[in-house]
Amino acid sequence: MNKTRKLIIAGNWKMNKTVAEALDLVRGLKIELSTVKEVDIVVCPPFTALGEVSKAILDSNLRLGAQNMSEHNVGAYTGEITAVMLKEFSVRYVILGHSERRQYQRESNELIAKKALAAHNAALKPIVCVGETLAEREANRTQEILDTQVRGSLAGLTNDQMVETIIAYEPVWAIGTGKTATTEQAQEAHAFIRGLLGKSFDETVARRVRIQYGGSVKPSNARELMSQPDVDGALVGGASLETRSFAEIIKNSI
Ligand code: PGA
Repeated sequence: MNKTRKLIIAGNWKMNKTVAEALDLVRGLKIELSTVKEVDIVVCPPFTALGEVSKAILDSNLRLGAQNMSEHNVGAYTGEITAVMLKEFSVRYVILGHSERRQYQRESNELIAKKALAAHNAALKPIVCVGETLAEREANRTQEILDTQVRGSLAGLTNDQMVETIIAYEPVWAIGTGKTATTEQAQEAHAFIRGLLGKSFDETVARRVRIQYGGSVKPSNARELMSQPDVDGALVGGASLETRSFAEIIKNSI
């Protein structure tokens, strides 16, 4: 595949895996994926498994991501985790504004933008999630929603920070439902998002930012999705929980 942007495929484990289960999974992935150089491979375990997974993947091509962090640097925020704490475990990426957090924790675009800035200040690369619901798509509001989310969640980033930011386009109706966006729907949304980056930042930034697709990505649809000109990787939920399916997604994408 001939793209100027390197593919980045991340596994979002969500609230799954004990430490022992997490280690089983990454041990398998290390073996299956040891020769892959064409893709940035990221695993995002729950906080409780970061320490052990970090040690287990030290000598591998797997990179570590977290699923969330606080917008604050320190202080009285019970239950929260800072970017610097993540860095202690050699975390390099952090998923921000996943639709589940937007829905269940009421995370706003404004909050996500603060988190993205805090991530960059600690040299963590944010994976900022955007995407419309089924009702919004059916009401022909997809572009309007993406416009608001992209501008709002990335507000205040410099061009240099934006280039180091990953966007995950995840249509909410495709997450965990088995319904994947068609390749045309995915490509159309990705191209639209890239266009927005051109306006909010500049054309060079827009050309360089990697945009992942997320929502029921599996071994059987990965190749077609990844072959779209503006699709630069995937954020994988359910299919990232097993060695074989996550490894196959990556191999099928090359
Ligand atoms: P899914 O989840 O692959 O299980 O649809 C994707 C995500 O929520 O990141």
